[in-house]
Amino acid sequence: RKKVTIQHLHNLRRAGTPIAMVTAYDFPTGRACDAYGADMTLVGDSLAQVCLGYDSTTQLTMDEMLHHCRAVARGSKAPFLLADMPFGSYHASAEDAVRSAVRLVQEGGVEGVKMEGGEEIVPAVRRLTSIGIPVMAHVGLLPQRHASLSGYRVQGRDAQSAVSVLRSALALEAAGAFSVVLEAVPHLLATHITNRLSVPTIGIGAGPGTSGQVLVWDDLMATWHGHKAKFVRRFADGQAEERKGVTGFVNAVKERSFPDLANESYDMDQVEWERFL
Ligand code: KIV
Ligand code: NA
Repeated sequence: RKKVTIQHLHNLRRAGTPIAMVTAYDFPTGRACDAYGADMTLVGDSLAQVCLGYDSTTQLTMDEMLHHCRAVARGSKAPFLLADMPFGSYHASAEDAVRSAVRLVQEGGVEGVKMEGGEEIVPAVRRLTSIGIPVMAHVGLLPQRHASLSGYRVQGRDAQSAVSVLRSALALEAAGAFSVVLEAVPHLLATHITNRLSVPTIGIGAGPGTSGQVLVWDDLMATWHGHKAKFVRRFADGQAEERKGVTGFVNAVKERSFPDLANESYDMDQVEWERFL
């Protein structure tokens, strides 16, 4: 596969070809995104819940994120590779944002970073862009702010809040973001924002009118045992495969049908065996 670049992503948008982004959290999922055609791979901070068992993304540290970025990067060649900036790693100052993003690129091996927020993160986005670190902005539902938002709710449903999501997207594009994620917003608003921007929008719970779509690995594979949001489609039944694999192994061990002596065990030369005895 040819390496996906920002130029290529912009070409896809211009051609009206939807962009597919998938999250990955380790070497095998990074490999799968690469092998099966994802345009972009995101080491999302959903890592916190789906891989590490935390309640929310706000608990994820930079060191934990880096550890997983390195694993994904080792399995990822063609997709454009991004990582979420962890909660708290870009809020104190634009200098802080630079230091965090440089760590993700240098130690984590990613090509760009994603940041949640609106006009308040414009200085940080501008700084990163100015030093050549590609930034994907993330507006609409901001999971890192679930506490102040009183939960994970659709954003931009009333006119005032819709204006605020649009303003954020425009400000972040002007600050240099090469793409914008729209999470959990009405599809009319997402399509409108997509038409107003000249960079690709990537939707999650934003309807079919965006330049691309993203889903969390464990949602699309159905390996996530928790809540299923309305916007999630399960494209595989990973949980059924896990059940089949683990119960199959456990039962075979208990009933002594595994391992098979002839086909799943190693032989020893008879002479060597007698010498051993
Ligand atoms: O963390 C994540 O997985 C994300 C995507 C779903 C956009 O931010
Ligand atoms: Na995220």
